[in-house]
Amino acid sequence: MKEGTRVIRLSQDYTFKTFDCGNPDLNDFLLQDAKEYDKRLLSVTYILETEEDIVAYFSVSNDKIAIPDSDKATWRKIKALFPHRKHRSDYPAVKIGRFAVSLKYQHTQIGTDILDFIKDMFITNNRTGCSFVTVDALKSALPFYLKNNFLFLDKAMAADDTQETYLLYYNLAQLLD
Ligand SMILES: CC(C)(COP(=O)(O)OP(=O)(O)OC[C@H]1O[C@@H](n2cnc3c(N)ncnc32)[C@H](O)[C@@H]1OP(=O)(O)O)[C@@H](O)C(=O)NCCC(=O)NCCS
Repeated sequence: MKEGTRVIRLSQDYTFKTFDCGNPDLNDFLLQDAKEYDKRLLSVTYILETEEDIVAYFSVSNDKIAIPDSDKATWRKIKALFPHRKHRSDYPAVKIGRFAVSLKYQHTQIGTDILDFIKDMFITNNRTGCSFVTVDALKSALPFYLKNNFLFLDKAMAADDTQETYLLYYNLAQLLD
């Protein structure tokens, strides 16, 4: 992660510094809702900060990918990642519920570094089994996730440009090969 920054887990007594990622909903979630979500065990939020400001944040929750979310060919590919006796109708995942980089730091690889950090979090000393990372990506952020090797779970969705968000997944096991 960038020099002079540190990742901290949001706590109830954290004092927010200013944050603007250019998306009011994502700003408001951090500043107004994230602590409540944490308290109710709905999500855990991590903040990348410097001494002066918040660089980025992300919130994660347990999730799964399941047959109804996927097109048939993609599900076949997903199943093929596992030995036959482990074929199931769903697999455990972690969902990136919210993710934003401050305008001041966007397009400086911070987002990519954070995705790598998240991937590592769930394959190193992980407390539960977690095969995939998922995200409901905003249309504007699709190029960013695709560049970072996330894939569409439902290819029909990829062709529909009217969606506000697009369900993408990343196979964590590829990092262990
Ligand atoms: C999307 C976001 C998290 C990416 O973080 P970032 O630190 O800017 O990303 P990186 O610098 O690692 O980007 C790597 C590449 O992804 C692509 N990319 C990143 N953001 C993009 C955007 N908004 N639109 C198109 N491509 C984008 C570019 O190819 C970029 O390379 P470049 O900077 O050479 O053009 C950040 O732009 C952001 O917080 N945006 C506003 C909130 C948001 O959309 N969050 C995602 C919710 S799902």
